[in-house]
Amino acid sequence: MRSQIAPETKTVRGAVLRRDPAREPCFRLVHLHHDMEDYGDMSEASRRQRLHQHMHNEMQSLEIAAQCLVDFPDTPWELRMELARQCWDETRHTQMLYRRLRELGGHKGEFPVMNYEWGVTCMMDSLVARLALQNRTFEGGEIDLLRELVQMWRKNGDDETADLLGSILVDEIQHVRFANQWLKRLAKEDPRMLLQVARAMAHLRAITAALAPQAGDVNAAGVNLTGYTHLDVFANVEDRRHAEFTEEEIAEILRQEGFAGLVSHASTA
Ligand SMILES: [Fe+2]
Ligand SMILES: [Fe+2]
Repeated sequence: MRSQIAPETKTVRGAVLRRDPAREPCFRLVHLHHDMEDYGDMSEASRRQRLHQHMHNEMQSLEIAAQCLVDFPDTPWELRMELARQCWDETRHTQMLYRRLRELGGHKGEFPVMNYEWGVTCMMDSLVARLALQNRTFEGGEIDLLRELVQMWRKNGDDETADLLGSILVDEIQHVRFANQWLKRLAKEDPRMLLQVARAMAHLRAITAALAPQAGDVNAAGVNLTGYTHLDVFANVEDRRHAEFTEEEIAEILRQEGFAGLVSHASTA
């Protein structure tokens, strides 16, 4: 499950990323977080921006899963089916968010977009590395984020968007779960694949460091990125269990978040 095809690339602040996928001309493409219009509040413009950005992220998830089917044709059939089902889910998610964006008066191309997850994940030449990055890491993080966002939209009086995000969360758990199941299965068959996972995580750390906001960076919406506190996102322990992270892995995530005191409780629950 390794690709022989060298990906076409782009370089951003010294980091080598996969070249952007094709986009309709209406989209304004940017390459750094500080060129995004991330408002950080729940104003009307911010609501539309959140939906627009999430819609575009779902498009990327679709493209990443689809590119895996193209780049790794020798993958076991059952895993190809999981990826194909994921393509269907991500297509639906994109359409649901696009519809909600239009209901709130927004339109495609209203805000800048960035292909970060695509650029990072699709540099990897093995399916194992891509599953470790996209499904297990990015979508694993999305599980945590979505739980918080459902509550945030509901608190701000938009039950319809909250329900929509809740239904996306259910599908995301399955995307993380099948990746976890297959990574475990493949590692059992060939422990050397863990090196590919380790390489993938090192790649992610290097790119994250290269593209991180620098002191005083102000984004396209005028928000100071280094002074701005994002919505705190804590591990969604219950759904991570559904996604078949082990208790040790969940405990490690809680530890990293500064909840070491909860770890003994979480790991014995
Ligand atoms: Fe999705
Ligand atoms: Fe997904």
